[in-house]
Amino acid sequence: MSSPGPGHVPESVTEPAAPASLPVDADWWRQAVVYQIYPRSFADSDGDGLGDLAGIVQRADYLAELGVDAVWLSPFYPSALADGGYDIADHRYVDPRLGTLADFDALVAALQARGIRVVVDIVPNHTSDQHPWFVEALQAGRGSEARDRYLFREGTGPEGGEPPTDWVSSFGGPAWERVADGQWYLHTFAVQQPDLNWSRADVRDDFLATLRFWADRGVDGFRVDVAHLLTKDLSEPLPSAAELRGIPVDGKHPTVDRDDVHEIYAQWRQVFNSYDPPRSAVAEAWVDRSRIPLYARPESLGQAFNFDLLRADFDAAQFRRIVTDCLELAAQTGSSSTWVLSNHDVVRHPTRYGLPAPDRDAEGRQVARAGAAWLASGGTEPVLDRDGGVRRARAATLFVLGLPGSAYLYQGEELGLHEVAEIPADRRQDPTFFRTAGAQAGRDGCRVPLPWTRGGTALGFSAAPPHLPQPAWFADFSVEAEQADEASTLRLYRRALALRHRYRTAEELEWLETGRDDVLRFRRPNGWEVITNFGTEPFEIGAGEVLLTSTESADGVLPGEATAWLVRPAS
Ligand code: NOJ
Repeated sequence: MSSPGPGHVPESVTEPAAPASLPVDADWWRQAVVYQIYPRSFADSDGDGLGDLAGIVQRADYLAELGVDAVWLSPFYPSALADGGYDIADHRYVDPRLGTLADFDALVAALQARGIRVVVDIVPNHTSDQHPWFVEALQAGRGSEARDRYLFREGTGPEGGEPPTDWVSSFGGPAWERVADGQWYLHTFAVQQPDLNWSRADVRDDFLATLRFWADRGVDGFRVDVAHLLTKDLSEPLPSAAELRGIPVDGKHPTVDRDDVHEIYAQWRQVFNSYDPPRSAVAEAWVDRSRIPLYARPESLGQAFNFDLLRADFDAAQFRRIVTDCLELAAQTGSSSTWVLSNHDVVRHPTRYGLPAPDRDAEGRQVARAGAAWLASGGTEPVLDRDGGVRRARAATLFVLGLPGSAYLYQGEELGLHEVAEIPADRRQDPTFFRTAGAQAGRDGCRVPLPWTRGGTALGFSAAPPHLPQPAWFADFSVEAEQADEASTLRLYRRALALRHRYRTAEELEWLETGRDDVLRFRRPNGWEVITNFGTEPFEIGAGEVLLTSTESADGVLPGEATAWLVRPAS
C-alpha cells in the first residue's frame, strides 16, 4: 500500500502534453473536462480592469497545463452589461472592450493548438434592449413587424397603466416594462433583456445564421442559455402569476419547457451536423428531471446540464442518488451525463460546503439558495468554515472527476476560491441586487477577477483596478502562490486532470460496498476506483495502488472528508 501525500501522482504520470492539433472526434464532449471562463473576470491584457480575449490567449498555457479538454466562454459579445454580458446587442460580434473578431480567431487558434476545444454561449431567449431589433421595435411602434419580434402587449387597468399580468421577473420586480407609447414588453430576466418572439421565422433564421457564423470560425460547440424558455403561448387571456404556477409543466405550459421548443433544436441540429465533426451543444434547461432527456436527445441539443449537485449538501446519500439518477437519465438518450459543482450563477462550492447545510422542505428541496443568507449578511453570519469548505470541495471535486460523463469546471475553482461576500453596494453589478433592493446579494461574488499573483495591481489580473474588487485574502489563493505549493488545490486539479486522461475508460461505473453509509466507492471498467469519505471517521482503503488523494493520507487510511483514487485490477 502506498502512502501518498496530498496531490500525490505516480512517477509514470506526467502533466498532459498538448497535442500538436486536434484529432477529428465527434464524441470529444462525452467525457470532456470543460472549463468555464467568465471573460470579463479571467485576465485583462489592455489594462482597463476588464478581462478580454487577448488576456485569455496570454493564459492559454495555463489552461493547457491545467489539462482541460475544452473552454466554454460565457458571453463576450457587445453588451451594456445589464446582466453580466447575457444582455447581447449583437450576437455575431465581439464587445470592443474585450477585443475584435480577429482576437477571437486568435483565441480559437491558440486554444486548439494546445488541444483545447472552444464552446461559446448562445443566448436565444432575449436580446439586449440595445440590439438593433429592439431599437427598431421601439421606433416602429404598435402593430409593426419590428415590434412583433418581441413580446409586446397592451397593459391593463385605466389607460393600460398596469402591466398585462402580475408576473415577476427572474431577478425580482415585474416581468413587464412599459415603453413610451404605452405598450408593455415581456422580460423574463432584466428590464434590459426583452424576450424574443420565437414564433417568427426571421428570429429563427437569425439564430441559425449566428450558429453558422461561430461554427465557421472554428467553434467546437455551444452552450445554450435557458434553453427551456424560448417558445411561449401568450394567447389571451393571460393567466395570473398564481394561475401560471398552477399549470402543469408537461410540454404545454404557456412559458416554460414547451414541447414546441424542440422544433427549434431540430433545426439547430441540422446545422450542427452539417459540420465535420458535428458541433456539440449543451442545454441549460432548468426543467423537471424527467424532461431533461428531451434536450439531451441526439436529434435535439445532444447534452443537457444537470444541476442537482449545485443543490446538494456534502452528503453521501444525496451524491449517490444524484449520480444514479443522472446516469440513468443520460442512458435514456445515449447522451453522457454532466457534472457541475460551480458556475457563474451560484455560490462557489468551497463556500457552500463551509456553511451549515441549508434547510429543506418536506420534499427535500432547499428552502433558500445555499449561501444566500451568508451573502446577505456580508459574509459574517453564519460563520464560514473556510478550511473545512475547501477540504470538502476538494473531496467532492475528485469524486466528480472520477465519474463517467463530462465535468464542467468554473474558473477559479481550481484555486479553491471561496465566494466573495464583501463587495460594497456601490460596486455591485448583478441586477438581482438592484431588483431586490439589496435583499439578495446576487452573483457578483463568484465573478470577482482571478488572482494570478500574490501582489501587484489587481493581483496580476490587470494593470488597473479590477471591475469588481478583490479581497486581500485572494492573494493566498493566487496562481503564483498555489503553483509554489505542492499541496495546493491548483496542483491537485492538474494532477487529477492528467490522471483522468490517462484512466479515461468506458462510460460506466459499478458501486462497491463500503459497509458505511457515509463512504461511497465506485469502480470504472478499467479498475480505476474512487472512494469518498463524506464522514469524519477515517476509512480503511484496503488493497490497491493509490493514485491521488484530496488530502493528506497515510498507511492505507482515508481521513474524513476526503477522496482517494486508486487502481485495482478487476477481480
Ligand atoms: C442563465 C445564465 O447562466 C445567467 O447568468 C443569466 O443571467 C440568465 N441565463 C439570463 O440570460
